[in-house]
Amino acid sequence: MERAVVRLTLFGLLVSLAASQPKKEDRDIYSFHINSTVTSRYATTIITSRVVNRMNESKEIEFHVQIPKNAFISKFTMLIDGQVYDGVVKTKEQAQQQYTAAVSRGQSAGIVSSVGRTMEEFKTSVTVAAHKKVTFKLTYEELLKRTHGKYELQIHARPMQPVKDFKVDVYIHEKAGISFIDVKGGLSTKALANAITKTHADKQAWVYFYPTEDQQKTCDSCGEQGMNGDLVIVYDVNRNNGLGDIKTSDGYFVHHFAPSSLSRIPKNVVFVIDQSGSMHGRKMQQTRTALIHILNDLAEDDYFGLLSFNSDIFHWKRELVQATSLNLEGAKKFAQNIVDGGGTDINAAVLEGARMLNTHPREGSASILILLTDGDPTSGETNPENIHSNVRQAIAGKFPFYCLGFGFDVNFAFLEKMSLSNSGVARRIYDDSDADLQLKGFYEEVATPLLTDVKMIYGGGTNLTQTNFSQYYNGSEFVVAGEIIDNNIETFRPQVLAISRKRKVTFVNTQGSVDSSAGTVADGLLQRVWAYLTVKQLLEKELLVSGPEKEKVKSETLELSLKYSFVTPLTSMVVTKPQGENTDVLHKPKEGEGAGDVGLYGEAGFPGFHGWSPLSNPLGFPAVPSLSLVTDYSDYSVHAASVPELFDIDGTFETSVPVSHRFLLKTENQSTPLCFDVNGVVIFKLLHYPSKELYINGELDSVTNGGFTKIVIHVSADQRVEIDTKGINLHQGQSTTPHIGQNPITAGSLTVIRRDKEIDVAVEDVRLVILVHEKDGDKFLWPALRLKPSASNIEGLLALKPADYQEVQQQSDTKLKIKDREISVSSSTADDYSNPHPVPIRCWLISADFALERTLNDYFVAQL
Ligand SMILES: *[C@@H]1O[C@H](CO)[C@@H](O)[C@H](O)[C@H]1NC(C)=O
Ligand SMILES: *[C@@H]1O[C@H](CO)[C@@H](O)[C@H](O)[C@H]1NC(C)=O
Ligand SMILES: *[C@@H]1O[C@H](CO)[C@@H](O)[C@H](O)[C@H]1NC(C)=O
Ligand SMILES: *[C@@H]1O[C@H](CO)[C@@H](O)[C@H](O)[C@H]1NC(C)=O
Ligand SMILES: *[C@@H]1O[C@H](CO)[C@@H](O)[C@H](O)[C@H]1NC(C)=O
Ligand SMILES: *[C@@H]1O[C@H](CO)[C@@H](O)[C@H](O)[C@H]1NC(C)=O
Repeated sequence: MERAVVRLTLFGLLVSLAASQPKKEDRDIYSFHINSTVTSRYATTIITSRVVNRMNESKEIEFHVQIPKNAFISKFTMLIDGQVYDGVVKTKEQAQQQYTAAVSRGQSAGIVSSVGRTMEEFKTSVTVAAHKKVTFKLTYEELLKRTHGKYELQIHARPMQPVKDFKVDVYIHEKAGISFIDVKGGLSTKALANAITKTHADKQAWVYFYPTEDQQKTCDSCGEQGMNGDLVIVYDVNRNNGLGDIKTSDGYFVHHFAPSSLSRIPKNVVFVIDQSGSMHGRKMQQTRTALIHILNDLAEDDYFGLLSFNSDIFHWKRELVQATSLNLEGAKKFAQNIVDGGGTDINAAVLEGARMLNTHPREGSASILILLTDGDPTSGETNPENIHSNVRQAIAGKFPFYCLGFGFDVNFAFLEKMSLSNSGVARRIYDDSDADLQLKGFYEEVATPLLTDVKMIYGGGTNLTQTNFSQYYNGSEFVVAGEIIDNNIETFRPQVLAISRKRKVTFVNTQGSVDSSAGTVADGLLQRVWAYLTVKQLLEKELLVSGPEKEKVKSETLELSLKYSFVTPLTSMVVTKPQGENTDVLHKPKEGEGAGDVGLYGEAGFPGFHGWSPLSNPLGFPAVPSLSLVTDYSDYSVHAASVPELFDIDGTFETSVPVSHRFLLKTENQSTPLCFDVNGVVIFKLLHYPSKELYINGELDSVTNGGFTKIVIHVSADQRVEIDTKGINLHQGQSTTPHIGQNPITAGSLTVIRRDKEIDVAVEDVRLVILVHEKDGDKFLWPALRLKPSASNIEGLLALKPADYQEVQQQSDTKLKIKDREISVSSSTADDYSNPHPVPIRCWLISADFALERTLNDYFVAQL
C-alpha cells in the first residue's frame, strides 16, 4: 500500500514538471470573497471568485477550492458573459450517465476529492473567451460540532495568486451568547495577523480578514503564489445548565444540549491495543507515548484495563483495577514494553476487552471500550460479519465501543460499522508525526463522562433525529432536530432524562414553554439543520442495515438530499457548461477514499496529483490546520455611531441645532466597550501615517445624525482620493477623474475597490473599508480599519489603542477607572457602524476626553 502511494507521488510530480508553467498574466483573479454566516452552529459559506482571461484567445480557467469534509455542497453557479450555469444535484445514476457520455467523448470530469484530514477539494473548469470574465460561486453548509468545549469553523484559502480584492467575512449569531471567540490557523501568522479584525458583541461576532496583495505572500505557508492555509474561527457559547438551547421556527426545532456543571462520573475504561507486525516503528512508539499520557490523566476513582494483541492476547491484568498511582506505574511499564510482531486477531481481543468490562460492576460509573488497530483481522475469526455479530452480542448495548483506525491500511468501513452498531464512533488516526497527539485528543473527548443513558424526549415533536445516547462527555454536545406537530409551540414539551452518577436526573424547561425563535433565524434555516442531521444519520444507519431495510434507508436519504440539494455520497452535482464543453460531475468521496486510494473516477483522490494548471496545487499541501499559537487581536479601530435622536431639520434648525455622533471605542480585555459623543461640525484626523506620506481625514455630517459625509485620502503631495456618498474622485495634480464602474482604481501603492455598499481602500500596509450606510433616506460613510498598520508612529481616530479600564462598583453607581482617573458612567448603546449591518451594542457612555485620555481637539484637523 505504502509503496503504491510513493509511486503515485512521483508520477504526479513528473506530470507537473512536464507541463509548462503557466504565465501569470494568462488570467487574473479580480476578486476572491469568502462569506460565512453561522447561526445556531449551522454554517453556510459562500466562496465567490471572479476571474478574467487576459489572453487574446479562449482559455480554460479552473476553480479550485477546499471545503470541510463534514460539509455538504448545496449550490454552485458560474456566470459567463451574462449567462448563468447552475449545478444541479442528481442521483448518482443520473449523473453517472452524463459522466460516462463525457468520458466517451474523451473529456474529463469534475470531482470532489479528499485532501488531508479535514478537507475535501472541489474543482471544475470552464473555457472562457478572450478577455471575458467568469464568476464562480460555491455554497456549502455544515453543522459545527462541539469538541473539547469549542466549535471550529475552518476556512481554507488558496487562490493560487495574490489577489487585490480578497476578503473573508464571517458573521456568527448565537442566541445563547458567544462566550469567547478566537482566530487561529496558518493564515493568522506573520504579517497576516494584522489583517484580522474581530468584533464580539454578546450574541454576535464578526471576523474580517482583509490582507493586502503583498501580505498574501507572508504567512507560514504562503509564498509567491499567494495564500495557502486556513483561518480557523474557534468559539463557544454561553450555557445555562438546564435544558440548553432550543430554537423553533416554521414548524421545526433544533435543540442543543450541553450542560457542563455536572460532576464527573468515574469511568471503567479498557484499552485494546494492536501490536501486530504492521505497527512496527513509529506507529508503535507513538502508541506507547500516547498510552502513557492517557494513563497519567486517569483519575483516582477510575478503573482501567489494558491489553495488547496480535494473534495472541497479552494482559497486563486480567481484571480491571483502580487507577491508583501504584497500578498506573505498573501499567505504564507494561505499555512501555509493548513490542510489535505477529498477526491481528481483532475478534478475540475485543471480546476479551468486553468480558473485562462486563465482569466489572458498573453502577454509578461509565464503561468505555477503546480499540486501536492499524489493520484488518488476519488471525482467529477473520470474517467481518461474524466479528460484528460476536462483538454486538458481547457488548449488548451496555457501553459504547470506540474504534481508532491507525493509518490507511485499515478497513475503515469495518471499524465504522463495528463502532456505530455499539453506540460509539470510529476515528481515523493519521499516520503522521502527531499521531500520539491525535490519540490523546480522542481520549480527552471521552475522558469526562457527565451523564449516561441520555434520552431526549419531545412531546409534540415528530420526525426526530437521534434522541438516545449512551454517554455524554464534558466538552461535547448533543443536537436533536425535528418537526413540531401542527407547529404548535404550546404543546411542545422537550425534556431530557439521564443518569448522573447514581441519580436519575431530568432536565426540563423552567419557563414552561419554549419561545419561538421566529425572526431571529433565517427562514427555513432550522429545516435545513434538520435535513442536514437527518441525512448524516441516515448515511450512518445505511451502513448498519441490510436487505430491503437498506434500500428503504437509501431511498429516504436520496429523497432528502435531492430535496435540499445536498451533494452527499448518494448524489452528485452535474455542472453544465457552455455548448461544446464537457459536463462536470461532482461526487462526494467517502471517508478513506482519496487519501492514498485512487478513487473510482480516475484522477480523483490523490492530493498531489492534479497535473499542473494555473489553479492547481502541484505539491498538494494537505489542508491541515497548523498548530500555531493563538494570537489575540485587539480591535484597533474606533467605531462610530450616531445617537438615534430625532430632529426636525428645516432651514432654521440646520445650523443652530448641533447634531451628535456617537463613537464606540472597543476594549481589549473587557466585554463592554466605551462610547462617547461628538457634537457639531468636525473634521477628524482618521489616520496619519507620516512615514508613508499617507493622511486620511473625514468630515462628519453637520446636518443629520449620520456618520461622515466625505473622506479624503492623501497618498502623496499631489495625489488624493476623495470619497463621498455620491462617488469617488481621483485627484492628480490639477486633474480630477471621477471613478465609474466596478473596476479597481490604482494610483501608486493605492488600490480602491468599489463594491456594492462599501469602498475598500488598500494602501501600503493599511486596508480600510469605507462602508456606505443609509438611515432615514440619508446616506453616510463609515470608515473601519480592516488591516492595522504595523508601524507605531501612526495617529488618528482609527489608530486608537483599545480602551483599558477597571470597573468600580459603588452601591448603585458604576465608576470606571482609567489609569489614575475615576469617573461615573452610565450604560447606553451605540450602533456599531463598522459592521455592514449595524447592530446596537451596549457601552459605557463617557466623555470623549476621558475615553481618549487626551483632548478631543487633538484629533481635529482644519482641512480635509
Ligand atoms: C454574506 O452572506 C449573507 C447570506 O447570504 C448575506 O446576508 C451577507 O450580506 C453577506 N455578507 C457579505 C459581507 O457579503
Ligand atoms: C493580442 O492582439 C493584439 C491585436 O490583435 C496584438 O497586438 C497583440 O500582440 C496580441 N497579444 C498577444 C499576447 O497575443
Ligand atoms: C467541564 O468543562 C468545563 C469547561 O471546560 C469545566 O469548567 C468543568 O470543570 C468541567 N467539568 C468537569 C466535571 O470536569
Ligand atoms: C415526516 O417527514 C416525512 C418525510 O419528510 C413527511 O412525509 C411526514 O409528513 C413527516 N411526518 C410528520 C408527522 O410530520
Ligand atoms: C429511546 O429510549 C426510549 C426509552 O427507553 C425508548 O422508548 C425508545 O424506543 C428509544 N428510541 C430509540 C430510537 O432507540
Ligand atoms: C489583556 O489580556 C491579555 C491576554 O490575556 C494580556 O496579555 C494583557 O496584558 C491584558 N491587557 C491588559 C491591559 O490588562
